[in-house]
Amino acid sequence: MIRSNKNNNHKDVVFRDLMPEIPSTTYATFALYRYPAKFIPQVIAYALTEYGKAGMSVLDPFAGYGTVGTTAKIYGFDYELWDLNPLLNHIHPISIMPPIDLDEKRLIKDMMAYSKPFLPDWQNIKYWHDEVFLDMLTKSWGYYHSLNNEEEKRLLLIPLIKATRYFSYNDEKRQKLSRSPYSLKRINNLKSTIWQIKFFELIANELLKIKNNLIEYQNLRPMNVNGVIKGGINSLKSDLNHNINFLITSPPYLQAQEYIRATKMDLFWLGYSEETIRKLSKLEFPYQNVPATNILSNSYYKYLENITERHMREIYTGYFFGVLGTLSKLQERITDRMFLFVGPATIRTVPIPIDDIFIEHFVNLGWKHEITLIDTIISRNMFFYKENPATGKKDNRMKTEHLIVLKK
Ligand SMILES: C[S@@+](CC[C@H](N)C(=O)[O-])C[C@H]1O[C@@H](n2cnc3c(N)ncnc32)[C@H](O)[C@@H]1O
Repeated sequence: MIRSNKNNNHKDVVFRDLMPEIPSTTYATFALYRYPAKFIPQVIAYALTEYGKAGMSVLDPFAGYGTVGTTAKIYGFDYELWDLNPLLNHIHPISIMPPIDLDEKRLIKDMMAYSKPFLPDWQNIKYWHDEVFLDMLTKSWGYYHSLNNEEEKRLLLIPLIKATRYFSYNDEKRQKLSRSPYSLKRINNLKSTIWQIKFFELIANELLKIKNNLIEYQNLRPMNVNGVIKGGINSLKSDLNHNINFLITSPPYLQAQEYIRATKMDLFWLGYSEETIRKLSKLEFPYQNVPATNILSNSYYKYLENITERHMREIYTGYFFGVLGTLSKLQERITDRMFLFVGPATIRTVPIPIDDIFIEHFVNLGWKHEITLIDTIISRNMFFYKENPATGKKDNRMKTEHLIVLKK
């Protein structure tokens, strides 16, 4: 028998205001890169300090940008970050690095003079970048890949990614990688300027910004802790062979964000092949074809009953098999608490109470539901369509985010 004994304990909060010591969500290195559906660092800071203390450890099996690690260091927690997206391996080390003494002018000069191109394994490259810019882009990335000084390389990556995106047909105002009339116009305008200078100026400015961000991060006094970073892995197939105090995560969304697709431009330039990127996309939840697992929630079955479309049923079941399959296995190694951060979700305009389903499932696995903190979303990098493009119906997604706190 599946019990439904979640308690109704919840509290309204404003996540951004929970921890004033982190002045904003973009402070320090918390927003060097626009990763979709990034964590608000204050949520993690709150969970770590309200429920734990320095010397403990935390795991995020869907770490994305790696915010859990960047925050864990500030509060003295060892951490482990996993994600399917290999970007984690490149971005997280930048967000925790101490500032270095860099001669930006020398670096830009060397980059401008560099002549060996790096050609990404990317058939569609000319769809995304105007041919006019390709020589400059491939040589700049050639320079990046040629660097032996790891710290310089780290510092250069984000500025180079930003400039490369600016010199692409991608519409940066959209979350998903996409061309638009707006971006076509931007590129046409750019072509009529002295764009070479603009490109390197952009990089130089971004290098200065990052330096400042790294100094801000040092002001938060990150501690010397152990950090394990595993980008490019399928968390469903990965095991923990040791105990960890906390699991803090914001799992993928039911309406797929397509994290790999949203970041593939950067992955190509970093040297990932078409084949690798295709393989990774197929492993993303809810697309991954996951074997059925036992979902211990009545709500799960109640909502499933009402989904008639086959494709939607597959998304729904695949999502819970994937996310709960992963978390159910990992929870055995979590000794204290789990914090699950979930946003709004719908299937064809019907809101799905993901939080209730998660809570019911873990209560049936022996966890206690302590509290759910609820925030009304002010603005987040997610897509809230006024109309659902698939159905043409008005979207009635609840605009709240929930932090579920579970105790062992
Ligand atoms: C909501 S995002 C996490 C964002 C993160 N909290 C942050 O601060 O950036 C969910 C993450 O789950 C990852 N993901 C999706 N399917 C996965 C899988 N099978 N294994 C591991 N990670 C996966 C995505 O790549 C994405 O980064």
